[in-house]
Amino acid sequence: MATERTLSIIKPDATNRNLTGKINAKFEDAGLRIVAQKRIQLTKAQAGKFYEVHAGRPFYDELCEFMASAPVVVQVLEGEGAIAKNREVMGATNPADAAPGTIRAEFAESVGENSVHGSDAPDTAAVEIAYFFSGLELVG
Ligand code: CMP
Repeated sequence: MATERTLSIIKPDATNRNLTGKINAKFEDAGLRIVAQKRIQLTKAQAGKFYEVHAGRPFYDELCEFMASAPVVVQVLEGEGAIAKNREVMGATNPADAAPGTIRAEFAESVGENSVHGSDAPDTAAVEIAYFFSGLELVG
């Protein structure tokens, strides 16, 4: 399997509860390398642009408000099959459906406040990484 990079976001519900280290340990234990990382405060407009594929859905406004409500940690994870592996480590979007031991099963509070985001495919990973990181910030 090829080495891939994927975009990860540790969301406000998790940064508020000081869970960054515990979540990063889940990534590293699964063999994912955190090759870039920064803690930032998004504006609602920046969150809206990132999630524009969901514009018009009933939860969109609430999602953008939430993502701008406190700092987030944006990261690039690297590894063999990193996109699928990260989605496995995160668990299902709704924590009620997430497998035991996954980040969302252990830490997420609800489908909206679900602790982490991860890219879903190679093309979206490339776009999402470029949204937050310049080439100079990706040193491997
Ligand atoms: P994420 O993987 O970041 O991608 C889009 C986000 O929208 C998703 O995680 C959830 O946090 C949020 N989301 C998806 N479905 C719903 C829903 N039904 N109600 C509220 N938020 C949702």
